[in-house]
Amino acid sequence: MDKGFSKDFLWGSASAAYQIEGGARKGGKGPSIWDIYSKVEGNTFKNTTGEVAIDFYNRYEEDIELMKEMGLGAYRFSVSWPRIFHNGSGEVNQEGVNFYHKIIDKMIESGIEPILTIYHWDLPQALQDKYGGWESREIIEDFTNYCITLYKEFGSKVKYWVSLNEQNIFTSLGYLLALHPPKINNYQRFINANHIASLANARAIAEFRKYVPNGKIGPSFAYGPAYAISPKSEDILAMENAQELTNWLWMDVYAWGRYPKIAIKLLEKMNITIPFEDEDQEILNSSKPDFMGINYYSTSTFKDKNNEEAVYNIRQSGNTVQGDIDKLITDDLYTPATNPHVKLTDWNWVIDPQGLRVALRRITSRYDLPILITENGLGAFDELTENKKVHDNYRIDFLKEHLLAIKDATADGSEVLGYCTWSFQDLFSWLNGYQKRYGFIYVDRDEESEKELKRYKKDSFYWYKEVIATNGEKL
Ligand code: BG6
Repeated sequence: MDKGFSKDFLWGSASAAYQIEGGARKGGKGPSIWDIYSKVEGNTFKNTTGEVAIDFYNRYEEDIELMKEMGLGAYRFSVSWPRIFHNGSGEVNQEGVNFYHKIIDKMIESGIEPILTIYHWDLPQALQDKYGGWESREIIEDFTNYCITLYKEFGSKVKYWVSLNEQNIFTSLGYLLALHPPKINNYQRFINANHIASLANARAIAEFRKYVPNGKIGPSFAYGPAYAISPKSEDILAMENAQELTNWLWMDVYAWGRYPKIAIKLLEKMNITIPFEDEDQEILNSSKPDFMGINYYSTSTFKDKNNEEAVYNIRQSGNTVQGDIDKLITDDLYTPATNPHVKLTDWNWVIDPQGLRVALRRITSRYDLPILITENGLGAFDELTENKKVHDNYRIDFLKEHLLAIKDATADGSEVLGYCTWSFQDLFSWLNGYQKRYGFIYVDRDEESEKELKRYKKDSFYWYKEVIATNGEKL
């Protein structure tokens, strides 16, 4: 039976500070690792940075007015840690705090539920320099202190909170695939940094209960369900291995406070150890999220290393800036394969709306937690016509198909709290500059010039407006 969307379903959209704000050195903000990393030649597409980004720092009123006009129900944004603490700790930068009060107040006045992400990758550079950022346990205290500061400031205004954005992505791209700062390729260091991030996440949630007792918090996990290329048992086992090491390794820790047994064994076989200390189990046990936040873009297909199926090398084709790491120690356990049943985006990302239904069902079966879809969207080349229109039917189709999958999963028994498209405005795409557009609002700038940063509503803007107005009846 078609259950449709609940009355209080959050119709949202999302962004992240570094990708929209700009104002990199305004209002007492300190440098983040991305401010520094993006300035190093070759690290980003055409050496683009978020120095100005789409200038949300100065244009937030105009953007929130556009959200209001659309009838947007929720807006997920992130706070920039170095805007709150110039050096990551110490004295609070009041100007930074005031900026977020202003945007939160404006959202609330406009009938938009703010969803606050605490960490979306822009670590204060000072902490990277001081003790190596996520590789040191010292960060747990600094992160917890930063969180408590946010809880005290914004806890009475903001109900929905996201702790870490895509812990699996910032640790794997930063410490394993050498595509994000600090550009390292070392599996053990990736697991070390990740464990410390898990502890920080747990502490953040435990503290949240004290300061924001009526709020809801969860992580945003980049979840792509794993498929097997064939029903051969070797391929199924490869898929299971991938699921252990790319999904459950995080989600089990979030939901149950423990690492999955099979994943630990697989790591041991690769001579990788999780740097567990005595008190860690207690910390991980001390916090349970209210929801599993997921960023869903695609599914991944795997094969046994001896299966001759063509390899779709995700490490080489998903970004404009490509890495040069073509062998990982996990390749013996699972190898990426090409799914012949799906289409690809302009950036070769698998388009698989039913994969979202699979994702929601797997989470419900395994964890029985409500789910907040914190990101989903299509990155594409959009064209601004002479009369300033953007006919992005492909984006409408993409989002529509994913919403239908959510409807189906809800009828299957999943509890979905809301849906945030990525993104509301076009923004800075870490390794793809400004050409990879995701928004309902076209922002007229490119890699070469900021131009006037004018905003134009795409066709998808009007489509989502109607979806929201009809609570998803009219897709
Ligand atoms: C998610 C991130 O990984 O995907 C976003 O949380 C990001 O910050 C989005 O922009 C899309 O990725 P990309 O690489 O296309 O910008």
